[in-house]
Amino acid sequence: MYPLLVAMNLRGTAMANNTEVVASEPFLAHEKRKSISLIFCRFICVFLLAVAACYLFVSNFSSWIRETETVNEQEMVNIRPLMKELEVKEQQFLKEEVCDLSVGKWIPKAEGPSYTDETCDYMADYTNCLKNGRPDRGFLHWKWQPNGCDLPPFDPLKFLNAMRNKSFALIGDSVFRNHARSLLCLLSVVAKADEIYHDRTNSGIFYYSEYNFTIYDIWSPFLVSYKLEKYLPELELYVDVLDSQWTKNYDKYDYMLMSGSHWFYRRAVIYENNKIIGCHYCPDLDLKNIDTDVPYRKALELTFKFITASEHKPFVVLRTWSPNHFEDGEFPGSRICNKTEPFKEGEINGDPADLLMRSVEIEEFEKAAAIGEKNGLRIELLDTYHLSLLRPDGHPGAYRNYHPFDGGKKNVDNDCIHWCVPGPIDTWSELLMKIVIP
Ligand SMILES: *[C@@H]1O[C@H](CO)[C@@H](O)[C@H](O)[C@H]1NC(C)=O
Ligand SMILES: *[C@@H]1O[C@H](CO)[C@@H](O)[C@H](O)[C@H]1NC(C)=O
Ligand SMILES: *[C@@H]1O[C@H](CO)[C@@H](O)[C@H](O)[C@H]1NC(C)=O
Repeated sequence: MYPLLVAMNLRGTAMANNTEVVASEPFLAHEKRKSISLIFCRFICVFLLAVAACYLFVSNFSSWIRETETVNEQEMVNIRPLMKELEVKEQQFLKEEVCDLSVGKWIPKAEGPSYTDETCDYMADYTNCLKNGRPDRGFLHWKWQPNGCDLPPFDPLKFLNAMRNKSFALIGDSVFRNHARSLLCLLSVVAKADEIYHDRTNSGIFYYSEYNFTIYDIWSPFLVSYKLEKYLPELELYVDVLDSQWTKNYDKYDYMLMSGSHWFYRRAVIYENNKIIGCHYCPDLDLKNIDTDVPYRKALELTFKFITASEHKPFVVLRTWSPNHFEDGEFPGSRICNKTEPFKEGEINGDPADLLMRSVEIEEFEKAAAIGEKNGLRIELLDTYHLSLLRPDGHPGAYRNYHPFDGGKKNVDNDCIHWCVPGPIDTWSELLMKIVIP
């Protein structure tokens, strides 16, 4: 936990000077996909209009009117028959763009989560908001509704059945682990896993014997190698060396979910070819400053290079950046998140620092997915950024600690980075399921 607190504090200082907000959020992937489908639709329209025009030559005007009406209907139904001529992979691509899961809204829902702190004990104490005494319950009663398609509730039985004889690696930092624990809790309704391995980084291997299904929970906050030794409090980051924590068992993964992390915001001396190339936010060291997006891009590039070059071809999913919701509190220097309802669309713009990281990961993902497609490797994006941005009520806040206000305490620590379990982070698994088990 201590590195996390350092990260939170550092981020706090960095963020304080950074109050500017951008005008609008980049839905990069969405926009690109939309424009591709737009081009495709336009192509069909032009084609159909040409057909209609030809028909006009051999037919009279009134029958042409009738024809254009049916043309409009056909325009919709024709997309799929036409796709039959194309590669299966491209059909898959089209299916996905019919519904972009990341665009939608939060709608109220009556039923609560499928598990609670009493039925699941996988969650870490600092995300166990119910046990820690969070008084409001409204944050458990929202459902993500994508525009244009339905997102069913997480189906643990379907998930476990699909994962028979398989393994799933979940790789990242504490927000990642936060998600992994939410997934274990969602699955616990049907089956509980045995933790068959555990190490000092709290990495673990969970095994569902009934399903012969293995979950690797792997601590690797940068995906590349790092140390906390020489320049403390700065860490040493090796942007050209992959972290063996996740590569060592790579051949065993059938599915793999990874993401970048807030650790890239930490003070870090950055190495390449065993030489220091600069430092991110090291006021006391006389080194060239390097922005957070540079090491993040290098880490993702190297990771995708390894994945796309490997003989082994798991189904790879990259989860997008997880936003935080720190606001200024009533006490000087206190940063809180005590909202109890989601934001509506337009009520929040992302933090420019987060949006920069998001643009890096979307670019690297798109490059890798294109290479993957040629090599028969599935690489998908689990785009949770925007739907999570709309949930300032989903963080533990003060309830990162057990009954924080007991004894009249007022100025308490807030965690506005991690997510309550249960809470909106459960939705990430609903999206994940839609992506890996169509
Ligand atoms: C799982 O593996 C076992 C043993 O190899 C095999 O009998 C079984 O059919 C497999 N199940 C699935 C769903 O692949
Ligand atoms: C479990 O799955 C692995 C493949 O991941 C397979 O080799 C093994 O035979 C399976 N074991 C059982 C008991 O089904
Ligand atoms: C959130 O905190 C602010 C500042 O401490 C306080 O004024 C407000 O009433 C709090 N809101 C809730 C819902 O507790």
